[in-house]
Amino acid sequence: MGKQHGDIFAKCYTWEDAKRLQEAGLYPFFREIESTTGSAVVVDGKRRVMIGSNNYLGLTHHPRVIEAAKRAVEIYGVGCTGSRFLNGNLDLHRQLEEGLATYLGKEKALVFSTGFFANQGALSTLVGRSDVIYSDRENHASIIEGTRLALGDTLKFAHNDMEDLERILIQTRDKYKGALIVADGVFSMSGDILQLPKVVELAKKYECRVYVDDAHALGVLGPKGEGTGHHFGCQDDVDLVMGTFSKSFASIGGYIAGKADIVDYIRHKARPFMFSAALPPASTASVLECLRIAQEEPQHLQNLWKNARKMSEALTGMGYNTLNSQTPIIPLLIGDDLETFAFTKALHEAGVFATPVVSPAVPKGCALMRTSYMASHSAEDLDYALTVLKKLGEQFGILGNEERMNAMNELARNHFGHRAVAPA
Ligand SMILES: Cc1ncc(COP(=O)(O)O)c(C=O)c1O
Repeated sequence: MGKQHGDIFAKCYTWEDAKRLQEAGLYPFFREIESTTGSAVVVDGKRRVMIGSNNYLGLTHHPRVIEAAKRAVEIYGVGCTGSRFLNGNLDLHRQLEEGLATYLGKEKALVFSTGFFANQGALSTLVGRSDVIYSDRENHASIIEGTRLALGDTLKFAHNDMEDLERILIQTRDKYKGALIVADGVFSMSGDILQLPKVVELAKKYECRVYVDDAHALGVLGPKGEGTGHHFGCQDDVDLVMGTFSKSFASIGGYIAGKADIVDYIRHKARPFMFSAALPPASTASVLECLRIAQEEPQHLQNLWKNARKMSEALTGMGYNTLNSQTPIIPLLIGDDLETFAFTKALHEAGVFATPVVSPAVPKGCALMRTSYMASHSAEDLDYALTVLKKLGEQFGILGNEERMNAMNELARNHFGHRAVAPA
C-alpha cells in the first residue's frame, strides 16, 4: 500500500466503545426479545414489563390488525418485490393513502416504506439551492439526513425556543428564496410538544412553510390521534405533515401529507420513494386497520392518556426530573452515560425493560432513561414498574438527594430549555 494511503477499515479495528461496555457487563443494546404481548416481553426466558416501546395505542396485538395482516398475505403474498413507481403498487397502498388524507385533513398523502425515507425523500426533494431549512436542534436523525441531502442551507434553532427561531429568521430570511420550518411535533427523546401555534405565527410573519414530523404524535395527540396540528387546532397551517407507522400504527412505513400538487411532486421526484421497494402487503393492511381502529375505538387513546398521566404524576412525585414532559414519553434525566447504562441493567434484572438514551440523541452529559407508556399496559404492570423505579432510583442516589435533584434541574434548564423544568 502506498505511503500516503490508509485502510478504509482501520477505524473499525480500533473502535472499542461497544467492546468496553460488553466487558463491563453494561452493554444495553440489541437485547433479544423471545416473545411479546406488546406491553410485556420475554428476554432470557423471563417476563419483563416493557416501558421502552413506541406502541402507544397497543395495537401490535389487536385481533383486527393481526387478521388484516393474515388476509393480505393470502391475497397478495408476502412482498411487493419492487418500487411502487413501477411494479409494486397495490390497491391497498392507494386505500391507505386516501384514508390517511381524510383522517389528517389533507388533500393527499403518500406512503413510503419507512418514516426515515419519508423525511429524507421529502426534504431533499423540496429544498433547492436558494432555499433554507430552519430546523429544531432536537429534530430526529432522519430529518438531519434529509437536510444533509437537500441542496439548500440548514440553520438550526435552539430546541423548541421560539425566540431563538425568530432571532435567526430576522438575521437570515432575506438571504433565501423559499424557507421551510421543520420540527418534530412531539420530540422523540424529551417527549415535549412543539410550540406549533408560535411556529405557525412566525412562518406567516416571515413567509416560510411549515413541516411537522408527527412520528410520536400520530395516534397520541388530537381528538382522534390525528397529530399535533389537530391538538392545537391549527392543522390547516401545517403545510406538510410527516409521520410513521412504526409507533402507534404498530407496523412499519411512513407518510407525507399536504396539498395534492406538493405530494404529487414528491411522488415523482423523491428517490427513497421511487427507488426502493414498496411497503409489504401485510404491513400496509395492518396500518389500514390501525387507521380504522383509531377512528372507531376511542378507548385506546383514552387508556393511553390515563396510563401516561398516572406514570407522569407518580414519577415526578417520586422526585424524578422528567423534563416536564406532557406526553406518554416520560424521560428520567440521569446525566452520566455509564450510570444510565447501569440503571438500565438494574431495571432489566428487576423485570423492567426501558431504554437508555445517550449522546448524540441527547446533548452530552444529559443521558436519559427513556420511558414510554401504552394503552395496553395493565395497572398491575405499571404499579410494578413504579415500585422498581422507586427502589432503584433511591439505590442509585437519583431520588431522595436534594443536591442531585437541584443539579438535574440545572442540567434540564441549561440543555432542554426553560420549558423542561416544571414550575415550582
Ligand atoms: C421523530 C421521528 N421521525 C422519524 C422517524 C423514522 O421513522 P421510521 O421508524 O418509520 O423510519 C422516527 C423513528 O424513530 C422518529 O422518532
